Amino acid sequence: MRALALTRRPAPGTLADSIGMSEIAEPRPGFRDVLVRVLASTINIDDIHVAEGTFYGGIPIGPRPRPGRPVTPGSDLSGVVIGAGKGVRSLHAGDAVFGVQIPFRSKGAWAEICAIDERWLTPKPDNVPFPCAAACGISGLVALSAIRALKLRRGSRIVVVGATGGIGGMAVQFATRAGAEVIGVCGPAHVDRAYQLGCSLVLDYKTQPWEREISTHIDGVLDLVGGGDVEHAGRSVLDRDGIFVTVVGPERFIGDRPLGWTGIVRVLATVGWRIVKSRFRGPRYVLTGPGAGAGRDLRKVAEAAATGILPPIDSTVPFALQPMRQALRRAAEHRNNGRIVVDMTR
Ligand SMILES: NC(=O)c1ccc[n+]([C@@H]2O[C@H](COP(=O)([O-])OP(=O)(O)OC[C@H]3O[C@@H](n4cnc5c(N)ncnc54)[C@H](OP(=O)(O)O)[C@@H]3O)[C@@H](O)[C@H]2O)c1
Repeated sequence: MRALALTRRPAPGTLADSIGMSEIAEPRPGFRDVLVRVLASTINIDDIHVAEGTFYGGIPIGPRPRPGRPVTPGSDLSGVVIGAGKGVRSLHAGDAVFGVQIPFRSKGAWAEICAIDERWLTPKPDNVPFPCAAACGISGLVALSAIRALKLRRGSRIVVVGATGGIGGMAVQFATRAGAEVIGVCGPAHVDRAYQLGCSLVLDYKTQPWEREISTHIDGVLDLVGGGDVEHAGRSVLDRDGIFVTVVGPERFIGDRPLGWTGIVRVLATVGWRIVKSRFRGPRYVLTGPGAGAGRDLRKVAEAAATGILPPIDSTVPFALQPMRQALRRAAEHRNNGRIVVDMTR
């Protein structure tokens, strides 16, 4: 089968140049694995960071590629079940599914066939096309965990910073569906999109400091961008009972470069200190993301997708080396807005 593969770990910023299209053996499903013919995948910034060994500044969560043991990156996927391990109970050949390959595994989603634990797959709703379903996996799981952390009630008023990205687009829709009012923060090119997603007010962070435009009570801020400036701005619109939820933390674009263990410990210590301090003197600070058992939330993501809650799509690229390289560069330079979908059928 065809797969994008690495035989050595690329230096930070060089995944696009290091990756190659290879003919490799089809994966053999483990006990609880489902064999999926992949019809669509996506490019997430974290796919790049895991492959380059710079995830969260350099936490080594992905396997190291070697010449005899290539690694295929890629996490989001949708496709059709073509086989299963002996322990699989919930899915059968012919089922249309979507889900997320966890980063610890060496054979990811940028391949024609992927072996994936059944707990990280769910049936694809009939009314959601394969490319949209693939785009829902990580975006939906991260958005869901962030929205839970915000503890929304009907009538809550929140600010979503990065409202029109892959995660932000789903988070805005989850929040408005839960009865919250959302103020979206995004760049000038995406203001209309933010309104379409359901924001009641959209603030463009390039024109003015968005926090100065907010004069009403805010219950929570969801930060999908990261960095000290967003944290400072977010805290300035919250009172002590408010909650600041981030999926990134104090360092913007963390993962773009290695921080070394000293840098990683510094960032984690900052996060830990923020969490502890915020318990005594609000607003509460929460760093969140999908945990080890998050696969079961895919069912909720599927239910939402079936009702039209889908992430914004940046572009769709065919599964071929040059278009993939261009798309990887686009994602690595943060030029995408929303998910880049990989169409495995082209
Ligand atoms: N915690 C977790 O488990 C987890 C999992 C996956 C991803 N993440 C992280 O989540 C973040 C978002 O991922 P994504 O895939 O949704 O990214 P994305 O689709 O590339 O979207 C990023 C968004 O950020 C906006 N943005 C950039 N700078 C901004 C600023 N200064 N103020 C306000 N908005 C700004 C962009 O808007 P414009 O284009 O309009 O400027 C864009 O909408 C990434 O940093 C990623 O590493 C965390």
